[in-house]
Amino acid sequence: MDNLKAYIKKHQQRFLNELIELLKIPSISADKAFKKDVLATSDFVLKSLKEAGCNNVEICETPGYPIIYGEKITDPKLPTVLVYGHYDVQPADPVELWTSPPFEPVIKKTEIHPEGAIFARGACDDKGQMYMHIKALEYMTSSGNLPCNVKFMIEGEEEVGSESLAWFVPRNKEKLANDVILISDTGMIANDIPSITTGLRGLSYVEVEVTGPNRDLHSGLYGGAVANPINILAKMIASLHDENNKITIPGFYDKVEDLSEEERAEMAKAPFSLKNYKEALDINEVYGENKYSTNERNSIRPTLDVNGIWGGYIGEGAKTVIASKAFAKISMRLVPNQEWKEITNLFKKHFESIAPKSVKVKVTPHHGGQGYVTPIDTIAYKAASRAYETTFGKVPIPQRSGGSIPIVSLFEEELNSKSILMGFGLNSDAIHSPNEHFGVWNYLKGIETIPYFYKYLTEFSK
Ligand code: BES
Ligand code: MN
Ligand code: MN
Repeated sequence: MDNLKAYIKKHQQRFLNELIELLKIPSISADKAFKKDVLATSDFVLKSLKEAGCNNVEICETPGYPIIYGEKITDPKLPTVLVYGHYDVQPADPVELWTSPPFEPVIKKTEIHPEGAIFARGACDDKGQMYMHIKALEYMTSSGNLPCNVKFMIEGEEEVGSESLAWFVPRNKEKLANDVILISDTGMIANDIPSITTGLRGLSYVEVEVTGPNRDLHSGLYGGAVANPINILAKMIASLHDENNKITIPGFYDKVEDLSEEERAEMAKAPFSLKNYKEALDINEVYGENKYSTNERNSIRPTLDVNGIWGGYIGEGAKTVIASKAFAKISMRLVPNQEWKEITNLFKKHFESIAPKSVKVKVTPHHGGQGYVTPIDTIAYKAASRAYETTFGKVPIPQRSGGSIPIVSLFEEELNSKSILMGFGLNSDAIHSPNEHFGVWNYLKGIETIPYFYKYLTEFSK
């Protein structure tokens, strides 16, 4: 593959232009108003896979947004890699906080990305990272450097829970049969500290509704004599953590995997600057469960967070009112061995039990999923590690992430294969936030590293 670097150099402007075109389509899966854009994006992916040399490229219809499938089978006796990614993106709001419009991609320099970064919703999560795989495939097919078989499966509902993919996978086990699943939808520690993601947290997402009186009331005439659902909801939420910042739901920690002191010591070796961390977020102090480090708190420990809370009067000026209802959206990040459906039930039971008689409480579960841990003693991990070593000049550090890709555990159940998480984004890339971006260097480095994964996987499998 001595021509890989030259190929990337020669085509890098086109690689960037193509990604920019992809990023211009607002494929927001959460908002029905963008349906035609989500579908247009699936067509873009279809066309790109065809152009990159994939065969049997097809739009697989589902109850929701389509899944784009394609393959290049060179020899059934060789290993098969299944590439997974998503073409949908998060909503862009609050749009006013973007320094350039979210769907008008521009390349701007930043402190961390001196070569420039592409600013657009989805630049890193996941269009940029998914498209690296299509460009790596283009290189491999056009230069005779695809050493094994490859299948692509790109979905359009990851940001809303992957319901259609969960429907599709069990119905297409044979078509999707593979030796390893390759995903770039996570990050790494820094551009000079490559890492491979070895864990994802699970998720349970619920919405709660607290109802007091049957209508909004004058807060003078009734205040003090009836329960204010917003006050009550705030109290209930506050009680979900104790003074050590542990979650108080009975049974919540029962199945949590405890890491050995050796494993924790190993984790503590990963480079981390608390000072930089605090500075980047403009906070005076970090916060979290007692007796755990920041890196442990956001990866191997489960959490409970309010994602949104509303009720009552939030317009201009003041209105003296006791609202009839208060609401909150709550997410729990889970760690290995916690069952997301069980945790959802524990939450529901507990939340209903702590409600005073003066209010009614309704808990509505949304989506969820299991956590995941990648073993590091596999051929696939070793191939990924060697690939990074080749292109970064450093052995990557295995590191568990705090984020979730719930479908990964379903892949293992249904397809019986492990996933390898080769992420090239950085935590500072602002995924899901205003001004999401993806380093030009990271994009090209990903395209360069991926073909080595195929090479080493095939060599190590012999
Ligand atoms: N790509 C992210 C997950 C991620 C990002 C994992 C960085 C590790 C590092 C994915 O698109 C995502 O946003 N997942 C959601 C869950 C989903 C069910 C909406 C998440 O983690 O909140
Ligand atoms: Mn993603
Ligand atoms: Mn995401």
